[in-house]
Amino acid sequence: MLVKGRLLTPRGLIEGCMKVEGERIVRISRLGERDPQTYDFGGKLVLPGLIDMHVHLRDFDLSYKEDIKSGTSAAAAGGFVAVADMPNTKPRVDSLEVLKWREEIARQKALVDYGFYVGVGRLEGTEKLALGLKVFMPQEYYSGQREKTLRSIEYAEGHGMLTVVHAEDPSLGETPEAEAHAIREICGLGLRRLHITHVSSRAGHSQIRGATCDTCPHYLLLGGSSPPHSKVHPSIKGREDSEYLLQAVRRGGIQAISSDHAPHLPEEKAEGAAGFPGLETSLPLLLTLVNKGELSLERLVSAMAEQPARILGLKRLGSLEEGKYASFTVVDLKAESVIRPEEFRSKSKLSPFEGWKVRGLPVATFVRGKPVMLEEEVVGEPGWGKNLKFL
Ligand code: DOR
Ligand code: ZN
Repeated sequence: MLVKGRLLTPRGLIEGCMKVEGERIVRISRLGERDPQTYDFGGKLVLPGLIDMHVHLRDFDLSYKEDIKSGTSAAAAGGFVAVADMPNTKPRVDSLEVLKWREEIARQKALVDYGFYVGVGRLEGTEKLALGLKVFMPQEYYSGQREKTLRSIEYAEGHGMLTVVHAEDPSLGETPEAEAHAIREICGLGLRRLHITHVSSRAGHSQIRGATCDTCPHYLLLGGSSPPHSKVHPSIKGREDSEYLLQAVRRGGIQAISSDHAPHLPEEKAEGAAGFPGLETSLPLLLTLVNKGELSLERLVSAMAEQPARILGLKRLGSLEEGKYASFTVVDLKAESVIRPEEFRSKSKLSPFEGWKVRGLPVATFVRGKPVMLEEEVVGEPGWGKNLKFL
């Protein structure tokens, strides 16, 4: 297979073609190669496949909110080749037994590649199937499970697993100080592989030591406002926080951007549920910033592909290079649209970004050589996605 377009490679933008054999990239060149099976994307950009390192695919007993098929369809539509799924499911993913069960389901339902985090619990053996441990400090560390949390962290560290932390101290409410205090405390443990997820404030970010971090589009774009459906934990802070966080993304002080895709039903949102879907809005929102000159395309690709791959230890994803998987995202930087939640593939058809005008859209997503989204149609099949630990 041959892919033609403007390819964003570690050597810069190459107008040329990418030769794919099976699941891998075998050559990238400016030469006019030929192949009976050619995808010619013309002037469109071919980016390394985007990776969302923080999503809630639900499934199990919460399949009415989202399941692995609908969630990974949303990922394919949004330009993501891989997603990393959080363990606050029903039942929780907090043992090898539940993790094996989830793997069994994902193997049949996933359209894109997937990874799992395991929650605080019995971690023995989970390093084989999970990318890392997720610590939810408000309900674990700060709610009477400090010792249990520390034991899980110790296990993760001892087995080379990444520890991803939702850092908030609920005794300080939903303030920047609540985030700052928790981040200082967790960084104080001196872990080798620590990642602070969805950083929402300047105060919080300023406390990070010896850890990587991500933020989300809503913290970059909604500071100081509270449109319908925008309730989320951590809360959205002020305008200055958004400006600070965007600057930190530009400078690389925030390495990654995740969506924190958190689907709920409208009636659950009305009753106070926190979170909203983000897989189908993240890339258009951020490409809009690129078009406005507020974020460089290189930083976007770093935050959404290269760095997530590096942080998660995915050696064959994250860049377009010979030998890597042919997992890539094609974008039309000029295409304009309006965010319409009723058109989401996610089961959760609501968004605080409803009605926003965006410029820059994903037009194709390929996972290991196979198209899963083409011209905005999801064409992938459940069962193609693989556990990132097995790649
Ligand atoms: O807003 C949130 N929603 N924050 C979380 O930490 C959990 C998430 C969810 O699972 O809905
Ligand atoms: Zn989350």
